[in-house]
Amino acid sequence: MENEVIRLGAFELKEKIVKKLSKAGLSEEYAGDIADNLVFADIRGIHSHGAVRVEYYAERISKGGTTLEPKLRFEKTGASTGIFHGDNGAGHMVAKKGMEEAIKLAKESGIGVVGVREMGHSGTLSYYVDMAAREDLVAISVCQSDPMVVPFGGRENYFGTNPIAFAAPTNKKRPIVFDMATTVQAWGKILDARSKNHSIPDTWAVDKEGNATTDPYEVQGLLPIAGAKGYGLMMMVDILSGSLLGLPFGKHVTSMYNDMTEKRNLGQLHIVINPTYFTDLETFKARLSQMIDELHSIPAGNGFSEVLYPGELSEKIAEENQEKGIPIAKSVYEYLESDIIHRNQYDHSTAFAAGSKK
Ligand code: NAI
Repeated sequence: MENEVIRLGAFELKEKIVKKLSKAGLSEEYAGDIADNLVFADIRGIHSHGAVRVEYYAERISKGGTTLEPKLRFEKTGASTGIFHGDNGAGHMVAKKGMEEAIKLAKESGIGVVGVREMGHSGTLSYYVDMAAREDLVAISVCQSDPMVVPFGGRENYFGTNPIAFAAPTNKKRPIVFDMATTVQAWGKILDARSKNHSIPDTWAVDKEGNATTDPYEVQGLLPIAGAKGYGLMMMVDILSGSLLGLPFGKHVTSMYNDMTEKRNLGQLHIVINPTYFTDLETFKARLSQMIDELHSIPAGNGFSEVLYPGELSEKIAEENQEKGIPIAKSVYEYLESDIIHRNQYDHSTAFAAGSKK
């Protein structure tokens, strides 16, 4: 595997991403915001939301599906609430600015709830909740994504992979960061199985009859985690980041690939809580650190070498990659190095993007 990746420093990777997105038409400032999020993901081993996405963003930017100079506006709607209007600017940039407002509100009033309206895809949600935890705040962030999941018991797609992220500060060198899609697997894993001609476990997805499938080419929809419970969670995310913000919901949410000239109008909700309004901050952080220590001291179960806390694995990977360089797939590296802006790969492709034929 190692010979199929190129290792780059974080700065070098960011530079290459910024160059490509600027060439597609985005300002260097906004391209930098996207790049920060993608490098954050890649360095932590979350490659599904790293540089592999640059070509998709470049295609959408060049075809008009991202507002290049959005009219950004924060509308304070109450003592602790507000709407960040993103005007369909680059999602990573808009979601980040929305989180900055939520952090300010939480510092001033104990809690900050900011609905981010009209934005593009915002990548890994860990990035935003981590911003708050690094300032000794607790955060939750949820967002919509395009409909590619069957509701529990159904055979047609309705909700997206609707992720939930949570972070809290500790006395350790890193915060706790829990971040997951509400599906058993991301669609990227289906693409991966197709590209390798592998079958998939029958717990990931269903075919068009609603039957569990092991054939990645027969996938009609992904399955929610834990059956009806995951289905309920993805509905909750959709309500909080869609209808609550006056945005499209469920199957009416735009698709990532359907029309790259159209704006996505996605929503995200950030909830930031200031622990000092509830308890003593140092005691709170000490308790979470004790919790981590106690979890670490639990003997590993069969097949495991240790008990980790959420986000720990990613941070361990980040430390290693900081030293060795961030591994980037050779094909992604070659694209970043090339003069190509995009290869028309994504426009009007299916929800499961490339590789839909055997
Ligand atoms: P995952 O399954 O890799 O990890 C889920 C959680 O489990 C993480 O918090 C991780 O730290 C924790 N975890 C993993 N292994 C662990 C272990 N051994 N012990 C303890 N905790 C462990 O994440 P998933 O569901 O594949 O999501 C990947 C990313 O995709 C997330 O960053 C999410 O925000 C992003 N995403 C973004 C979407 C968007 O539209 N913007 C849509 C869906 C997902």
